[in-house]
Amino acid sequence: MNRVFNSLFLLGVLSIAGCKEQKSLNENEQKTMNDPHSYANTSEVITTHLSLDVEVDFNQQQISGVATWTIDNKSEAEQLILDIDDLHVDSIVLDNSDIKVDFKVGKRDHIMGSSLVVNILPTTQKVSIYYRTGKDAMALQWLMPEQTFGKRHPFVYTQSQSIYARSWIPCQDGPGVRFTYNATVRTPPELMALMSSTSNPQQIASDGVYHFEMSKPIPAYLMALAVGHIDFKPLDSRIGVYAEPEIINSAWQEFEETNQMMQIAEDLYGSYVWGRYDILVLPSGFPFGGMENPILTFSTPTIIAGDKSLVNLIAHELAHSWSGNLVTNETWNDFWLNEGFTVYFERRISEALLGKDNADMLWELGYQDLEATVANLGQNHPDTKLKLDLGGRDPNDGLTDIAYEKGAFLLLTIEETVGRERWDKFINEYFEKYAFKTINTDKFIDYLYVNLLNENPNWKQQIQVEKWVFEPGIPDNCPKPERKKFDGIEKAVEDFRKNIAITQLQVDNWSTHEWIYFLRQLPTDVSKERMADLDQRFKFTQSKNSEILCVWLQKAIKADYVKANSALKEFLLNTGRMKFLEPLYTTLIQTEKGRKQAADIYQIARPNYHPLAQKMVDNLLDR
Ligand code: BES
Ligand code: ZN
Repeated sequence: MNRVFNSLFLLGVLSIAGCKEQKSLNENEQKTMNDPHSYANTSEVITTHLSLDVEVDFNQQQISGVATWTIDNKSEAEQLILDIDDLHVDSIVLDNSDIKVDFKVGKRDHIMGSSLVVNILPTTQKVSIYYRTGKDAMALQWLMPEQTFGKRHPFVYTQSQSIYARSWIPCQDGPGVRFTYNATVRTPPELMALMSSTSNPQQIASDGVYHFEMSKPIPAYLMALAVGHIDFKPLDSRIGVYAEPEIINSAWQEFEETNQMMQIAEDLYGSYVWGRYDILVLPSGFPFGGMENPILTFSTPTIIAGDKSLVNLIAHELAHSWSGNLVTNETWNDFWLNEGFTVYFERRISEALLGKDNADMLWELGYQDLEATVANLGQNHPDTKLKLDLGGRDPNDGLTDIAYEKGAFLLLTIEETVGRERWDKFINEYFEKYAFKTINTDKFIDYLYVNLLNENPNWKQQIQVEKWVFEPGIPDNCPKPERKKFDGIEKAVEDFRKNIAITQLQVDNWSTHEWIYFLRQLPTDVSKERMADLDQRFKFTQSKNSEILCVWLQKAIKADYVKANSALKEFLLNTGRMKFLEPLYTTLIQTEKGRKQAADIYQIARPNYHPLAQKMVDNLLDR
């Protein structure tokens, strides 16, 4: 199974299957020249600044207000085309006048949503759209008080990547368009609002009115908002943690190393340009591990293991402050440039923070994920190329370990060929050259040749960049991670296979990564009795470590080890992270009994899942 996004991959596959009869793009509507997932006419007119004024209404579960776009109408176009999905547009005015202009909402496409075509004048500078969000807004999870840690206040947050910003703000929703913004957000008085902005509050405002400013241009997929009963606790003068009061202290302790990570990241690849760096821990429904919203990383509470063993996820989101947020993939076809670079960077941070053995374990687990993904898809499958072709498809199809792991392994191959020092110099220059710009695969390869590989003809031969990028499968020259730590575990796995008494297994001081490796290597047909012995000694069913628990529960389902059933139910009710939901539900539905169990649990759990996760599990369970 692939580690990161088998879930979304699956969602994607199902959605293509479901769209066969449907036209993928509405006819007669111009889409961005080279972004297959946006209707925006960006070659004619570009949005440069957003002024947002919205109210967050928990009773109606609706965000409503006005989005005023400042535009750069370079070609004196008479139409501005924006992306929307399930947004109700009430009226539109130009340049702050009172006169309403005509607009047209295109037919809704099940992937892309609708175009919003606004009639403008060649001289128009500002376009104000009065709107409200709909019930199906894909970006929004509205939580009832019971679904939060505190159980007393509601909560709402957005997840805009990849193409869901359009479900809460009318916008040019492609990663190739950047804009600055300011916003006023009105909330019920006892709640705090936070955004991916340069000016977040650290206290609850008594009147519930918050003002935000983002002075650095960002693409729409990095627009983020969260509203809830949230506290703040600083880690140092520029880094801090936001979370509900019930979990703020454990979050704060877990993330203690963030300052060091920042130091390491800056030493590696240049200064952090965004000002503050804060982490917001969301309620358990959050569908991802983390999301790199600029200045304010969103994180799942499932990384709070109590021993900092899962915080490489923070290294990952922090690394996106360079790869992704500063240098951004031009379209979702170039997603590997965001994620591959970030995984590589994340592991460099882990290596500097915790040592090479630790990073090597991450590389090896990543390699396993890569192999599993390629095996699942088939080694000739076009989606195992780094450069994707997602036109007419759901961008989530690209969310596999190919972008993450194959991407990172290509960069590791380059590092090992040209030497770390030379490679780091290249990356520094690359981030500087493309800061606040977009990059696509072809441009990247050109840049790589001109600024690095042309120095030495052997390098080109040894690396074979084109093979990695444009051909499927795992190239032969893919580096094999150092297995020093894991070789020791193999011995225990061997002993286990030979039926050694569980009490005799040698497991001294294993780290989380070693446990995960061990559990992954266990045979597929472990008996219930052996499961019980393992559990008795290592207490897996009670594990507070979500990653360990998730692998264990999959084994438990397969072995019909029913003693883990209540923990399984508890876990599925209390996490919405798709990386965990997908393998657990998938394993459950392999048997008739498991199917019933899955359906029973899902019926209760569904309201706790984000719309993206609901869509995925609905598909799995044929709902
Ligand atoms: N940006 C991604 C999450 C994402 C990607 C959301 C595409 C929607 C569409 C984030 O940086 C990420 O990769 N998260 C991983 C972290 C892991 C690789 C350490 C996750 O959530 O598991
Ligand atoms: Zn990422």
